[in-house]
Amino acid sequence: MTQSIKSEFDCYGELARTTVSSIMLSGRNHFQASLVAHILQDVKAKLSIASEHRLLEIGCNIGLMLSPLSQGAREAVGVDHPVIIERYRKMGVPNNTTLIEGYWPHVLVPGMFDRILVLSVLHSLRSATEAMTFLKACFSILAPGGRLLISDLPNEDMRSRYLESRSGARIASEYAHAIDEARASTVAEEYTRRDEIFAEAKDVVFINDDFILQVLGESRKSGLDAFVLPQPPELPYSQSREDILIMRRG
Ligand SMILES: C[S@@+](CC[C@H](N)C(=O)[O-])C[C@H]1O[C@@H](n2cnc3c(N)ncnc32)[C@H](O)[C@@H]1O
Repeated sequence: MTQSIKSEFDCYGELARTTVSSIMLSGRNHFQASLVAHILQDVKAKLSIASEHRLLEIGCNIGLMLSPLSQGAREAVGVDHPVIIERYRKMGVPNNTTLIEGYWPHVLVPGMFDRILVLSVLHSLRSATEAMTFLKACFSILAPGGRLLISDLPNEDMRSRYLESRSGARIASEYAHAIDEARASTVAEEYTRRDEIFAEAKDVVFINDDFILQVLGESRKSGLDAFVLPQPPELPYSQSREDILIMRRG
């Protein structure tokens, strides 16, 4: 396993200091911008947010999910890197939403939450141990009747199964082609900048079938219900990523 020298959290903060587009800052490609609405719809269905709920998004970035989700909640809180939060504030934050700067779980977030979203964040961490510490801190603030959605987990075993399939190999090659085209397009500079910044944070792969089962086991040992959920086919990485929904009985 490679030890990273810089956290991806810091890389995102550094990226936010540049003029990079919102879609790239959210960790996505330009050609995936139209898919954000599908991701939002899937998250809404899985979280089932109601008007009396307190909602927390850890790793909220510039609020592509949090701002629209906050409309269905009583109150919303977002946590992320200070420079990202500064950029989110400049873009405009809903009245019922509070932003907190800091690294979860080191940052203090007051109160319990009915709904917690962790979307495309866990693989930014540097080890399975760090990820479990992150998740257990989420368990500790999940209110009775609450739901915690850990979404978009890039499971390397699932990815291998997908790449071994005929359709997987074809779709992966189409994706690689789309990336090549983007890198040769008018947004090429954004890719170069993102690559340079993230080059210092070495990729640590720890999300696999064993890790998914470990999360299910730890959740249930903590008295919570936990389920693996698939992503609908219209989502960008639905063939190689999955979600875990954790629920505390009311
Ligand atoms: C790929 S982006 C996803 C953003 C957002 N969830 C979305 O789907 O649009 C990951 C975000 O998680 C943040 N992040 C990573 N580790 C974090 C941590 N330990 N605490 C808070 N934020 C974190 C990064 O700064 C980055 O903004």
